[in-house]
Amino acid sequence: MDSQAAPDGVDPNVPNVARMYDYYLDGKDNFAADRAAAEQILKLFPETRDSARENRAFLSRAVRHLVESGVRQIVDLGSGLPTQGNTHEIAHGIAPDTRVIYVDYDPVVCAHGRALLADGDNITIVQADARDPKTLLAELHDHVDFDRPVAFLLLAILHFIPDENPDGAGAYEIVQRLYEASAPGSYLVLSHAIDAKPDTTPEALEVYNRATAALSLRTHAEITRFFDGYELVEPGLVFPKDWRPDDQPLIGAEKTSIGYSGVGRKP
Ligand SMILES: C[S@@+](CC[C@H](N)C(=O)[O-])C[C@H]1O[C@@H](n2cnc3c(N)ncnc32)[C@H](O)[C@@H]1O
Repeated sequence: MDSQAAPDGVDPNVPNVARMYDYYLDGKDNFAADRAAAEQILKLFPETRDSARENRAFLSRAVRHLVESGVRQIVDLGSGLPTQGNTHEIAHGIAPDTRVIYVDYDPVVCAHGRALLADGDNITIVQADARDPKTLLAELHDHVDFDRPVAFLLLAILHFIPDENPDGAGAYEIVQRLYEASAPGSYLVLSHAIDAKPDTTPEALEVYNRATAALSLRTHAEITRFFDGYELVEPGLVFPKDWRPDDQPLIGAEKTSIGYSGVGRKP
């Protein structure tokens, strides 16, 4: 995107985590500052591009699992810029009556989402900040029947939220609030970055410190804690490529992943 195209209130000179991710996925909705920061990350972690694609492939398999298990309400929190294989496309390919609510705090993400997606049935775009779960849940009450199972997708968002958060609720508190609000049979779907290369990580953290959201990397045990109260669906918290692989060719299968993913069901 040309930085002249930046909407009011959006500074195209500050690298933005949604648009950096769009660049990893070969999207076109990013500015020069986003591309420069993303290139720095790709130099430090060349596997980032494959990991982003693996993450999307995991999303696709997880959403298929949810809908085939009977879930008809999906909240995609920190949904990011529209890309290929969006949540509603996967869900509606199986059950068109599935209600998909995309939530992001980023105005550019929401504007693109509205432009591209809002014509469809059973698709809603909500601009809200996960760090304010009370307001988020109040907004969701207009779109979600909380007496019925709902799946919350939190893919590649929680590593942008620290445990103790001066800007609002911490990552564990957010997940806890969503758990308390949801009915039995609801799901939590997570993917989360890890400290895959401790020698290189500090430089990558520096890049994200200058972006719109700093990184809070967590260990396998710390990510598992998000599923407290949920039953982890087989095969548990694993590298995205190892979560119920299907017959699609693996992406970057030889490389170590830079994150874990998993699906939990509230009993
Ligand atoms: C790396 S992208 C992930 C996009 C998508 N979930 C995926 O995994 O393919 C992270 C997204 O989370 C959003 N995000 C970060 N912090 C957020 C917050 N506090 N509330 C809502 N969205 C947030 C960003 O704007 C961005 O779109």
